[in-house]
Amino acid sequence: LRNSFAPKAGKQNLRHQYYLQPQASSSKVAILGAAGGIGQPLALLIKMSPLVSALHLYDIANVKGVAADLSHCNTPAQVLDFTGTSELANSLKGVDVVVIPAGVPRKPGMTRDDLFNINANIVKTLVEAVADNCPDAFIHIISNPVNSTVPIAVEVLKRKGVYDPKKVFGVTTLDVVRANTFVAQKKNLRLIDVDVPVVGGHAGITILPLLSKTKPSVSFTDEEVEELTVRIQNAGTEVVEAKAGAGSATLSMAYAAARFVESSLRALDGDTDVYECAYVQSELTELPFFASRVKIGKKGIEAVISSDLQGLTEYEEKALEALKPELKASIEKGVAFAQKQT
Ligand code: NAD
Ligand code: LMR
Repeated sequence: LRNSFAPKAGKQNLRHQYYLQPQASSSKVAILGAAGGIGQPLALLIKMSPLVSALHLYDIANVKGVAADLSHCNTPAQVLDFTGTSELANSLKGVDVVVIPAGVPRKPGMTRDDLFNINANIVKTLVEAVADNCPDAFIHIISNPVNSTVPIAVEVLKRKGVYDPKKVFGVTTLDVVRANTFVAQKKNLRLIDVDVPVVGGHAGITILPLLSKTKPSVSFTDEEVEELTVRIQNAGTEVVEAKAGAGSATLSMAYAAARFVESSLRALDGDTDVYECAYVQSELTELPFFASRVKIGKKGIEAVISSDLQGLTEYEEKALEALKPELKASIEKGVAFAQKQT
């Protein structure tokens, strides 16, 4: 498995030279919500990718300055800015990957579902434009509540007659990034070696790290499993509380989203060894959407990996059953919202 949002190892050159490699840089990426807390650092990280030829930055305000600033970095991607709904369509023309971090973040005391009323409409409107202007693009949805915004996006695409289940991803990479970090710290492992699949959804108990499937194989006491699982499930809240009203995770999220974009670009570029966890349409359980590892290829998801759900521990089996009612309700809420719209 390779999930390397990092320069390939083995070269003695300075890291920054990687970003200047005269490699084919042919993909176009759009960020919708590009002037926000996630959008800005994400734009910087994507601007550093040698696989990107154009980076389209869209927001309802403040995006001109972000684009002017970024455009001075001497990396190949051409940066273009688009402000407001009148420029939304143009921001999407010819784009291969659309990343959506548009929407409001949590404040202390809120759940992700408390964001539904505002973010559901934002995601619906943006995905309608994606359907009209770049229906073949990979769509990465970051806006919360992901458990509901992905079903909303899917309903919009279905209504527009352009839904491809292989190309719609709820971004749960941050859960994997956190699980890898916390497990490596707890077990004194090299960070680069650790890979923990995280399944289910992206809110509270629906986030289920499968610690028994950690690579390399590690043994945990029952107490360690409980402590790590709860910390991974509450890691978003940990950041929301530390930021004390100034928003939720932005930098770690940008890092995680950039890794997912880079993986998608490698897949589009013909790499046949790309695996990531994502919240997608799924038949792994009785729920229509479920996060798991997926294999990504040129045309999107090539396989949903079922083996991670086999041979679970009793703790994981119970946690899997316990998350289903909440995840089901969030999916149904998203679908009902989208179907109610004209
Ligand atoms: P932010 O408020 O800093 O930025 C949001 C940006 O979206 C702003 O620039 C705003 O102008 C823009 N925006 C609002 N309405 C828009 C519209 N209709 N079209 C385009 N842009 C619009 O928030 P943030 O910290 O960047 O978080 C954004 C979202 O990402 C939140 O919903 C948050 O909960 C979510 N999030 C998800 C994960 C995850 O793991 N999936 C992690 C962190 C945050
Ligand atoms: C996260 O996991 O950090 C995000 O979903 C943001 C949040 O509200 O916790």
